[in-house]
Amino acid sequence: MNTYTCIKTYIPKPGIGIVQLHRPEVLNALSLQTMIEIVDALQYFDNQSDIRCMIIHGSDKAFAAGADITEMSDAGTIDMLERDQFSRWEKIRLLKKPLIGAISGYALGGGCELAMHCDMLIASETAQFGQPEINLGVMPGAGGTQRLTRIVGKAQAMEMALTGRMISAYEAWRLGLVNRVVPVSGYLQEAIALATEIASKAPIAIRLIKESVLKSYSTTLEAGLEFERKNFYMLFASEDQKEGMKAFIEKRKPTWNNS
Ligand code: HXC
Repeated sequence: MNTYTCIKTYIPKPGIGIVQLHRPEVLNALSLQTMIEIVDALQYFDNQSDIRCMIIHGSDKAFAAGADITEMSDAGTIDMLERDQFSRWEKIRLLKKPLIGAISGYALGGGCELAMHCDMLIASETAQFGQPEINLGVMPGAGGTQRLTRIVGKAQAMEMALTGRMISAYEAWRLGLVNRVVPVSGYLQEAIALATEIASKAPIAIRLIKESVLKSYSTTLEAGLEFERKNFYMLFASEDQKEGMKAFIEKRKPTWNNS
Protein backbone atom coordinates (compact mmCIF):
# COMPACT_ATOMS: atom_id res chain seq x y z
CA MET A 1 0.00 0.00 0.00
CA ASN A 2 1.23 3.54 -0.82
CA THR A 3 2.09 6.10 1.82
CA TYR A 4 -0.45 8.85 2.23
CA THR A 5 -0.42 12.40 3.54
CA CYS A 6 -4.13 13.27 3.75
CA ILE A 7 -5.58 9.98 4.96
CA LYS A 8 -4.69 7.07 7.22
CA THR A 9 -5.48 3.45 6.56
CA TYR A 10 -5.75 0.59 9.01
CA ILE A 11 -7.17 -2.85 9.50
CA PRO A 12 -8.86 -2.96 12.94
CA LYS A 13 -9.59 -6.67 12.60
CA PRO A 14 -9.20 -9.27 9.87
CA GLY A 15 -11.40 -8.64 6.86
CA ILE A 16 -12.08 -4.94 7.51
CA GLY A 17 -10.16 -2.19 5.70
CA ILE A 18 -10.54 1.36 7.01
CA VAL A 19 -9.75 4.70 5.39
CA GLN A 20 -9.66 7.69 7.72
CA LEU A 21 -9.64 11.21 6.33
CA HIS A 22 -6.92 13.12 8.13
CA ARG A 23 -6.76 16.85 7.45
CA PRO A 24 -7.95 18.08 10.84
CA GLU A 25 -6.76 21.65 10.25
CA VAL A 26 -9.37 22.11 7.48
CA LEU A 27 -12.11 19.79 8.79
CA ASN A 28 -11.05 17.12 6.28
CA ALA A 29 -11.72 19.32 3.24
CA LEU A 30 -11.42 17.17 0.15
CA SER A 31 -8.43 18.45 -1.80
CA LEU A 32 -7.47 16.86 -5.10
CA GLN A 33 -4.68 14.95 -3.30
CA THR A 34 -7.12 13.74 -0.62
CA MET A 35 -9.44 12.30 -3.25
CA ILE A 36 -6.54 10.66 -5.11
CA GLU A 37 -5.51 8.99 -1.86
CA ILE A 38 -9.04 7.96 -0.86
CA VAL A 39 -9.69 6.33 -4.22
CA ASP A 40 -6.27 4.66 -4.24
CA ALA A 41 -6.69 3.22 -0.74
CA LEU A 42 -10.24 2.01 -1.34
CA GLN A 43 -9.22 0.35 -4.61
CA TYR A 44 -6.29 -1.28 -2.84
CA PHE A 45 -8.55 -2.75 -0.16
CA ASP A 46 -11.13 -3.71 -2.78
CA ASN A 47 -8.49 -5.79 -4.56
CA GLN A 48 -7.24 -7.61 -1.44
CA SER A 49 -8.92 -11.00 -1.25
CA ASP A 50 -8.76 -11.05 2.56
CA ILE A 51 -10.61 -7.73 2.89
CA ARG A 52 -14.38 -8.25 2.87
CA CYS A 53 -15.81 -4.88 3.81
CA MET A 54 -14.52 -1.31 3.94
CA ILE A 55 -15.22 1.69 6.15
CA ILE A 56 -14.50 5.35 5.58
CA HIS A 57 -14.61 7.91 8.37
CA GLY A 58 -13.25 11.27 9.41
CA SER A 59 -12.95 12.72 12.90
CA ASP A 60 -15.64 13.16 15.55
CA LYS A 61 -15.86 16.84 14.52
CA ALA A 62 -15.95 16.42 10.74
CA PHE A 63 -16.38 13.65 8.26
CA ALA A 64 -15.56 16.22 5.57
CA ALA A 65 -16.55 19.89 5.26
CA GLY A 66 -16.65 19.69 1.49
CA ALA A 67 -14.32 20.07 -1.42
CA ASP A 68 -11.29 22.20 -0.60
CA ILE A 69 -12.53 25.74 -1.23
CA THR A 70 -9.04 27.27 -1.13
CA GLU A 71 -7.91 24.98 -3.90
CA MET A 72 -10.87 25.85 -6.12
CA SER A 73 -11.40 29.53 -5.46
CA ASP A 74 -9.16 30.88 -8.25
CA ALA A 75 -9.82 28.12 -10.75
CA GLY A 76 -11.42 28.82 -14.11
CA THR A 77 -13.64 26.50 -16.09
CA ILE A 78 -10.73 25.15 -18.13
CA ASP A 79 -8.75 24.44 -14.94
CA MET A 80 -11.72 22.57 -13.51
CA LEU A 81 -12.20 20.63 -16.74
CA GLU A 82 -8.52 19.73 -16.94
CA ARG A 83 -8.31 18.66 -13.32
CA ASP A 84 -11.64 16.87 -13.72
CA GLN A 85 -11.07 15.76 -10.17
CA PHE A 86 -14.65 14.87 -9.45
CA SER A 87 -14.93 12.21 -12.15
CA ARG A 88 -12.39 10.27 -10.08
CA TRP A 89 -15.16 9.73 -7.55
CA GLU A 90 -16.88 7.42 -10.03
CA LYS A 91 -14.26 4.83 -9.11
CA ILE A 92 -15.77 4.69 -5.64
CA ARG A 93 -19.12 3.82 -7.18
CA LEU A 94 -17.45 0.90 -8.96
CA LEU A 95 -15.95 -0.72 -5.85
CA LYS A 96 -16.95 -4.38 -5.61
CA LYS A 97 -17.00 -4.74 -1.84
CA PRO A 98 -19.40 -2.99 0.52
CA LEU A 99 -18.33 0.43 1.78
CA ILE A 100 -19.73 1.78 5.04
CA GLY A 101 -19.49 5.45 5.93
CA ALA A 102 -19.09 6.23 9.64
CA ILE A 103 -20.13 9.85 9.81
CA SER A 104 -19.68 12.27 12.69
CA GLY A 105 -19.81 16.07 12.62
CA TYR A 106 -19.91 17.90 9.32
CA ALA A 107 -20.67 16.06 6.09
CA LEU A 108 -21.09 19.05 3.80
CA GLY A 109 -20.96 19.60 0.07
CA GLY A 110 -18.50 17.11 -1.36
CA GLY A 111 -18.42 15.52 2.12
CA CYS A 112 -22.13 14.77 1.93
CA GLU A 113 -21.65 13.55 -1.63
CA LEU A 114 -18.76 11.30 -0.58
CA ALA A 115 -20.97 9.89 2.19
CA MET A 116 -23.65 9.15 -0.37
CA HIS A 117 -21.14 7.12 -2.40
CA CYS A 118 -21.11 4.67 0.53
CA ASP A 119 -23.43 1.68 0.57
CA MET A 120 -24.57 2.26 4.15
CA LEU A 121 -24.10 5.06 6.65
CA ILE A 122 -23.77 4.95 10.42
CA ALA A 123 -24.11 8.45 11.87
CA SER A 124 -23.13 9.82 15.24
CA GLU A 125 -25.65 12.07 17.01
CA THR A 126 -23.54 15.08 16.04
CA ALA A 127 -23.55 14.38 12.30
CA GLN A 128 -24.82 17.17 10.10
CA PHE A 129 -25.47 16.76 6.42
CA GLY A 130 -25.82 19.54 3.90
CA GLN A 131 -25.20 20.83 0.40
CA PRO A 132 -24.09 24.41 1.14
CA GLU A 133 -22.54 25.06 -2.29
CA ILE A 134 -25.26 27.62 -3.02
CA ASN A 135 -23.72 29.84 -0.33
CA LEU A 136 -20.50 29.87 -2.38
CA GLY A 137 -22.31 30.77 -5.58
CA VAL A 138 -22.01 27.28 -7.03
CA MET A 139 -23.89 24.01 -6.87
CA PRO A 140 -23.28 20.36 -5.96
CA GLY A 141 -21.02 18.65 -8.49
CA ALA A 142 -20.54 15.05 -7.35
CA GLY A 143 -24.03 13.69 -6.95
CA GLY A 144 -25.71 16.18 -4.62
CA THR A 145 -28.55 16.89 -7.02
CA GLN A 146 -28.82 13.28 -8.21
CA ARG A 147 -28.11 10.82 -5.38
CA LEU A 148 -29.63 13.04 -2.71
CA THR A 149 -32.84 13.37 -4.75
CA ARG A 150 -33.11 9.62 -5.21
CA ILE A 151 -32.55 9.02 -1.51
CA VAL A 152 -34.59 11.74 0.21
CA GLY A 153 -36.98 12.77 -2.58
CA LYS A 154 -37.39 15.92 -4.64
CA ALA A 155 -38.78 18.29 -2.03
CA GLN A 156 -36.09 17.68 0.60
CA ALA A 157 -33.24 17.62 -1.93
CA MET A 158 -34.49 20.88 -3.43
CA GLU A 159 -34.64 22.54 -0.03
CA MET A 160 -31.20 21.35 1.00
CA ALA A 161 -29.51 22.35 -2.27
CA LEU A 162 -31.42 25.63 -2.73
CA THR A 163 -31.00 26.91 0.83
CA GLY A 164 -27.75 25.21 1.85
CA ARG A 165 -29.38 24.35 5.19
CA MET A 166 -27.94 21.45 7.15
CA ILE A 167 -29.98 18.60 8.51
CA SER A 168 -29.28 16.75 11.76
CA ALA A 169 -28.37 13.09 12.08
CA TYR A 170 -31.90 12.22 13.22
CA GLU A 171 -33.44 14.14 10.32
CA ALA A 172 -31.08 12.28 7.97
CA TRP A 173 -32.24 9.01 9.53
CA ARG A 174 -35.91 9.95 9.16
CA LEU A 175 -35.29 10.72 5.48
CA GLY A 176 -33.52 7.41 4.85
CA LEU A 177 -30.08 8.91 4.28
CA VAL A 178 -28.46 6.99 7.14
CA ASN A 179 -29.01 3.51 8.53
CA ARG A 180 -28.92 4.53 12.18
CA VAL A 181 -27.78 7.15 14.63
CA VAL A 182 -25.65 6.25 17.64
CA PRO A 183 -23.80 8.25 20.33
CA VAL A 184 -20.58 9.85 19.16
CA SER A 185 -18.63 7.53 21.46
CA GLY A 186 -19.87 4.49 19.53
CA TYR A 187 -20.38 5.29 15.85
CA LEU A 188 -17.10 3.81 14.68
CA GLN A 189 -17.58 0.65 16.75
CA GLU A 190 -21.08 0.34 15.33
CA ALA A 191 -19.70 0.61 11.78
CA ILE A 192 -17.03 -1.98 12.57
CA ALA A 193 -19.69 -4.31 14.03
CA LEU A 194 -21.77 -3.97 10.85
CA ALA A 195 -18.69 -4.53 8.68
CA THR A 196 -17.75 -7.58 10.75
CA GLU A 197 -21.18 -9.10 10.23
CA ILE A 198 -21.00 -8.52 6.47
CA ALA A 199 -17.43 -9.84 6.36
CA SER A 200 -18.64 -13.11 7.87
CA LYS A 201 -21.03 -13.83 4.97
CA ALA A 202 -20.44 -15.59 1.66
CA PRO A 203 -18.21 -13.15 -0.29
CA ILE A 204 -19.41 -13.85 -3.82
CA ALA A 205 -23.04 -13.47 -2.83
CA ILE A 206 -22.19 -10.23 -1.01
CA ARG A 207 -20.59 -8.89 -4.16
CA LEU A 208 -23.55 -9.77 -6.37
CA ILE A 209 -26.04 -8.36 -3.86
CA LYS A 210 -24.20 -5.03 -3.84
CA GLU A 211 -24.08 -4.97 -7.64
CA SER A 212 -27.76 -5.82 -7.88
CA VAL A 213 -28.94 -3.21 -5.37
CA LEU A 214 -26.87 -0.51 -7.12
CA LYS A 215 -28.28 -1.61 -10.47
CA SER A 216 -31.70 -0.47 -9.30
CA TYR A 217 -30.43 3.13 -9.52
CA SER A 218 -29.57 2.92 -13.18
CA THR A 219 -32.07 0.69 -14.86
CA THR A 220 -35.73 -0.12 -15.34
CA LEU A 221 -37.49 -2.45 -12.90
CA GLU A 222 -37.78 -5.09 -15.61
CA ALA A 223 -34.07 -5.02 -16.53
CA GLY A 224 -33.13 -4.86 -12.84
CA LEU A 225 -35.21 -7.91 -11.99
CA GLU A 226 -33.62 -9.83 -14.85
CA PHE A 227 -30.15 -8.77 -13.65
CA GLU A 228 -31.03 -9.95 -10.14
CA ARG A 229 -32.45 -13.27 -11.36
CA LYS A 230 -29.36 -14.05 -13.44
CA ASN A 231 -27.05 -13.21 -10.55
CA PHE A 232 -29.14 -15.50 -8.33
CA TYR A 233 -28.82 -18.37 -10.82
CA MET A 234 -25.10 -17.67 -11.22
CA LEU A 235 -24.53 -18.23 -7.50
CA PHE A 236 -25.49 -21.87 -8.01
CA ALA A 237 -22.11 -22.27 -9.71
CA SER A 238 -20.38 -21.37 -6.45
CA GLU A 239 -19.13 -23.77 -3.80
CA ASP A 240 -20.39 -21.37 -1.17
CA GLN A 241 -23.98 -21.96 -2.32
CA LYS A 242 -23.50 -25.73 -1.94
CA GLU A 243 -21.87 -25.26 1.44
CA GLY A 244 -24.48 -22.77 2.69
CA MET A 245 -27.45 -24.95 1.86
CA LYS A 246 -25.75 -28.15 3.00
CA ALA A 247 -24.83 -26.55 6.34
CA PHE A 248 -28.45 -25.47 6.85
CA ILE A 249 -29.67 -29.02 6.24
CA GLU A 250 -26.96 -30.48 8.50
CA LYS A 251 -27.79 -27.88 11.19
CA ARG A 252 -24.26 -26.47 11.40
CA LYS A 253 -22.55 -23.18 10.64
CA PRO A 254 -21.31 -22.82 7.06
CA THR A 255 -17.64 -22.29 6.25
CA TRP A 256 -17.23 -19.97 3.29
CA ASN A 257 -14.25 -20.41 1.03
CA ASN A 258 -14.94 -17.61 -1.45
CA SER A 259 -15.31 -19.86 -4.44
C1 HXC B 1 -11.24 24.54 2.81
C2 HXC B 1 -12.14 24.63 4.91
C3 HXC B 1 -13.34 24.06 4.44
C4 HXC B 1 -13.41 23.72 3.06
C5 HXC B 1 -13.52 24.43 6.55
N1 HXC B 1 -12.30 24.85 6.21
N2 HXC B 1 -14.18 23.95 5.49
N3 HXC B 1 -11.11 24.88 4.09
N4 HXC B 1 -12.35 23.99 2.28
N5 HXC B 1 -14.50 23.16 2.54
C6 HXC B 1 -11.29 25.41 7.09
C7 HXC B 1 -11.63 26.82 7.54
O1 HXC B 1 -11.24 27.76 6.57
C8 HXC B 1 -10.81 26.94 8.80
O2 HXC B 1 -9.47 27.20 8.47
C9 HXC B 1 -10.87 25.55 9.39
O3 HXC B 1 -11.22 24.67 8.31
C10 HXC B 1 -11.93 25.40 10.46
O4 HXC B 1 -13.15 25.90 9.95
P1 HXC B 1 -14.04 27.00 10.69
O5 HXC B 1 -14.89 27.63 9.67
O6 HXC B 1 -13.18 27.90 11.50
O7 HXC B 1 -14.88 26.07 11.68
P2 HXC B 1 -16.35 26.31 12.22
O8 HXC B 1 -16.53 27.74 12.65
O9 HXC B 1 -16.56 25.23 13.24
O10 HXC B 1 -17.32 26.10 10.98
C11 HXC B 1 -17.40 24.79 10.38
C12 HXC B 1 -18.12 24.88 9.01
C13 HXC B 1 -17.42 25.94 8.13
C14 HXC B 1 -19.59 25.26 9.22
C15 HXC B 1 -18.07 23.50 8.40
O11 HXC B 1 -16.01 25.68 8.13
C16 HXC B 1 -17.89 25.93 6.71
O12 HXC B 1 -18.95 26.48 6.40
N6 HXC B 1 -17.08 25.35 5.81
C17 HXC B 1 -17.38 25.31 4.39
C18 HXC B 1 -18.45 24.30 4.09
C19 HXC B 1 -18.81 24.28 2.61
O13 HXC B 1 -19.20 25.33 2.06
N7 HXC B 1 -18.63 23.12 1.96
C20 HXC B 1 -18.90 23.02 0.54
C21 HXC B 1 -17.61 23.23 -0.21
S1 HXC B 1 -17.85 23.24 -1.96
P3 HXC B 1 -8.62 28.33 9.27
O14 HXC B 1 -7.32 28.41 8.50
O15 HXC B 1 -9.42 29.58 9.26
O16 HXC B 1 -8.46 27.74 10.65
C22 HXC B 1 -18.04 21.65 -2.37
C23 HXC B 1 -18.30 21.41 -3.83
C24 HXC B 1 -18.33 19.95 -4.13
O17 HXC B 1 -17.97 20.77 -1.60
C25 HXC B 1 -18.33 19.75 -5.59
C26 HXC B 1 -18.18 18.34 -6.00
C27 HXC B 1 -17.42 17.48 -5.09
